[in-house]
Amino acid sequence: LFLLLVWAVAGYLIGSVSGGMAMSRVFGLGNLREIGSGNIGATNVLRTGNKSAAAATLLIDAAKGALVALLAWAISGEDAAQVAGFMAFLGHCYPIWLGFKGGKGVATFLGLLLALAWPVGLACCATWLAVAAATRISSFAAIFTAAVSTIWMVFLGQSQMLGVGILLTLLVFWRHRENIARLRAGTEPRIGQK
Ligand code: G3P
Repeated sequence: LFLLLVWAVAGYLIGSVSGGMAMSRVFGLGNLREIGSGNIGATNVLRTGNKSAAAATLLIDAAKGALVALLAWAISGEDAAQVAGFMAFLGHCYPIWLGFKGGKGVATFLGLLLALAWPVGLACCATWLAVAAATRISSFAAIFTAAVSTIWMVFLGQSQMLGVGILLTLLVFWRHRENIARLRAGTEPRIGQK
């Protein structure tokens, strides 16, 4: 139990490091809170017009969840990996460094799915890409992917992920509640729009 606690804290702290905040500083993009949705994720970094910074943000936010989960798995096993990955997601959404005002968890969610159950991770990345290509709406692709992630878990024989998967899905929806309101009002911007 002590080890799980250590992994939980490690996951949370690593998850708290925001790729978007780091990249907006490195690329001199200004204050993400005053741009677009005000979110610190890759979608909003893209609204600055800097594609490299957005790609780097996506990579960092996905990699931190994946790396801490893989590290926990290698050292302490699968339960520790799930705890560390889940806590990295929480860290991304509620980071201690940023007054607990973080991102929406989509990149971190995809990264840790790739690490914990790669077939589900691949299926979810493909789902996100397909829905994003069809609708050009990042948030819709995100909540759609979260919603079907548990179906992929069952379908691809990864039901050990269902507990954490359902929790993550609920959290992704919760973090997108402003987006959901905009989607219902028909005012959610498409990818590439400001
Ligand atoms: O990953 C977050 C994305 O789903 C929505 O971002 O900036 O449009 O709220 P944003």
